[in-house]
Amino acid sequence: MADKLIIFDTTLRDGEQSPGASMTREEKLRIAKALERMKVDVIEAGFAAASPGDFESIKAIASVIRDSTVCSLSRANDRDIARAAEALAPAERKRIHTFIATSALHMEKKLRMTPDQVFEQAKQAVRYARQFTDDVEFSPEDGSRSDMDFLCRVIEAVIAEGATTINFADTVGYGVPELYGTMLRTLRERIPNSDKAVWSVHCHNDLGMAVANSLAGVMIGGARQIECTINGLGERAGNTALEEIVMALRTRRDHFNLDIAIDATQIVSTSKLVSQITGFAVQPNKAVVGANAFAHASGIHQDGVLKARDTYEIMRAEDVGWSANKIVLGKLSGRNAFKQRLEELGIALESEADVNAAFARFKELADRKSDIFDEDIMALVSDEQHAHQNEFYQFVSLSQQSETGEKPTAKVVFSMDGKESTCSGEGNGPVDAIVNAIESKVASGAELLLFSVNAITTGTESQGEVTMRLSKAGRIVNGVGSDLDIVVASAKAYLAALNKLHSKLERVNPQL
Ligand code: KIV
Ligand code: ZN
Repeated sequence: MADKLIIFDTTLRDGEQSPGASMTREEKLRIAKALERMKVDVIEAGFAAASPGDFESIKAIASVIRDSTVCSLSRANDRDIARAAEALAPAERKRIHTFIATSALHMEKKLRMTPDQVFEQAKQAVRYARQFTDDVEFSPEDGSRSDMDFLCRVIEAVIAEGATTINFADTVGYGVPELYGTMLRTLRERIPNSDKAVWSVHCHNDLGMAVANSLAGVMIGGARQIECTINGLGERAGNTALEEIVMALRTRRDHFNLDIAIDATQIVSTSKLVSQITGFAVQPNKAVVGANAFAHASGIHQDGVLKARDTYEIMRAEDVGWSANKIVLGKLSGRNAFKQRLEELGIALESEADVNAAFARFKELADRKSDIFDEDIMALVSDEQHAHQNEFYQFVSLSQQSETGEKPTAKVVFSMDGKESTCSGEGNGPVDAIVNAIESKVASGAELLLFSVNAITTGTESQGEVTMRLSKAGRIVNGVGSDLDIVVASAKAYLAALNKLHSKLERVNPQL
C-alpha cells in the first residue's frame, strides 16, 4: 500500500509574507474555502500574534473550514501560543505550529540566545502548545544550516514533549536536493524517537530548487508532509509551489508511489484567485498554471499533439482545471444563474443586498462584454468587496485624452472618506497622467515599485487586470484593479494600493 503524503498549504501565512501580498479577512476566507475545495490537508491560516487582523482572519477561517485542519504559526513563547490557541478555538481540527531558529548564525545574531536557552524554549513551547491541542508542529528555523548534533538534541526533546510533526525548514533556500534529503534521513536515523512524529519539508526557492528539495526530502529523507503555497508565493523567491508538487506526484506516481488527497481540477481556479487577490501575476511559462503551460507553439509539436496528445503532453490541461476557462454567463443570464455560479466558485457573499450589488455590476459588464468567464466574475466580486468595505478612497469615473505627439491628460473623480473630489493631471503616458492627477490631491509621497497589466481572459475584449505596488516608509503594498479599460483599471489599482497604505495595520513578521 502507498503511504499518504500530507499537503500543508501556507499561502495565507508564508505566502502573505511576500512584499505587498497582505490580504483582508474576506480575501483570506475566499482563499481558505478554495483550498478546502481542493482538499488540502492542512491550511496554515496565518500567524495569530502578528496583528489583530491576522487573529480575526484565523478565527473566521477556523469557524467555517470543516474538512481541512486549520493551523496558526506561533513563535516559541507562551503569548504567541495562547493567541494561536484562542484564534483556533472554533476549528473542528486545529494545529499549533511553533518554531525557533536553531542555526548558530540565527541564535547568536538574531535571537541573541545561547543554544541551551533555545533548547529549553523549544521544549517549553511544545509542552505549552500541547495543552491546547494534540496536533503540534515544531520547526527548527534555518534547520538546513544548523549543526546536526544540536538539531538531534532539540528535535528528540520536542518529540518527547509531544510534537507530532517535525518540519525541517530550509528557511533561506540554501538546500541542494541530495544534501537536504540526506540531512533529513540522518536526523530520522539518529533521533531515537523519530518514528513518533510525521516529518515535513518546508523549502524556499532562492536557488530555484524548492520543489526539487521538497521531493528529495520525501524520497531520500522519508518526509510525509510537504509545505507549499499556491503559485509558489512566499518570502523573497517564494516557497515550494503546490501545483508543481501535486502534478509531479500525480504524473510520476510510478516513481513516487505516494497518495495525496488533492482535487487537482481546482488548481487553475485557485491559482487565479490567489494571483488576483495578491496582485502577484503568474508568469506565462510557469509550470502547470502559466498561460503557456499547455500551449504548443511550434509546428512540429502542434502536429504531434494533433496525431497523439501524449507525443508532447505529459499532463492534460483539463486535469488541472484549465477547461474552466469557458464562457459561463452572458447578457441574458439572470440573477439565479449568476448566484449559482458564485456558489460553484465558492464565493459566499454576506447578504442578499451584496448579491444584488454584485449582480448589478455583472449586468454593467455584460452590457460592455459579450462573454463573461469565471475570471471576470472573480474580478468583479473583488472589486465589489473593495467598494463595500467602505474604503477611504473609492474610484468614481475618469476621462482621459491621448494623441500622438501630445502630452496625455486625465481627469479623475474619486471619493476620499465619502467626499467626492475631482483632479486633473498630465504625464508621459495615460497611466502616468492618472497617477499624477490622483497624487495632485492625495500627495501620498509613495514610490511606485511595480506596474503590471494582465489580460484576465483571452481576446481583445478581455478585462485588463492591473497591479500597482507602492512603497512608503518601509511598507510595501499591492493594489489590484480590473476593468475593460486598462486606464480605469490602473486608477482603481492605484487607489486600492493607497487604501492599503491608508489603513495603518501593522504586522509583525514572524521571522524578524
Ligand atoms: O521558512 C521558515 O523557516 C518558516 C518557518 C516559520 C517554518 O517559514
Ligand atoms: Zn518559510
